[in-house]
Amino acid sequence: MRIEVLNGVNLDVLGRRDPEQYGGLSIAELETRIYQWALAIGCTVRCRQTNHEGEYVEWCHELYDRGGVDAAIINPAAWTHYSWAIRDALEPVRIPLVEVHLSNVDEREEWRRASVLEGICTHRIVGKGPDGYREALEYLSGGTA
Ligand code: DQA
Repeated sequence: MRIEVLNGVNLDVLGRRDPEQYGGLSIAELETRIYQWALAIGCTVRCRQTNHEGEYVEWCHELYDRGGVDAAIINPAAWTHYSWAIRDALEPVRIPLVEVHLSNVDEREEWRRASVLEGICTHRIVGKGPDGYREALEYLSGGTA
């Protein structure tokens, strides 16, 4: 099974952002964990991160024709709360999608409670830090890391 992990804006500076919300891992450390979990489960993962919305939209388009990808883990970060372009890009995708957020967006500022991904993703995991990605991999693959 091939799973794509698409991380969005500002997640490249994770190690410098509020550790109370996001934990202390850098994006490289987070991705290393994701690759290790995937190895333990026996699935293939590719992690990508960008600060450019158009690039993120194009990565979403790549999920249309599968291109060998069976499922995706989506954390558009702040775009989650307002990017209708990302919602539109993901709407025609027919593979399972899991929305993941490191922090508990439902219990932070009001504006973070809105998600343009509502009704698009098959599953949503918030507030579990890096383990949210492990849970998403396990959910999608049916395996255990
Ligand atoms: C985030 C939550 C968003 O509200 C925020 O803008 C982020 C990261 C998370 O993973 O907790 O940058 O998506």
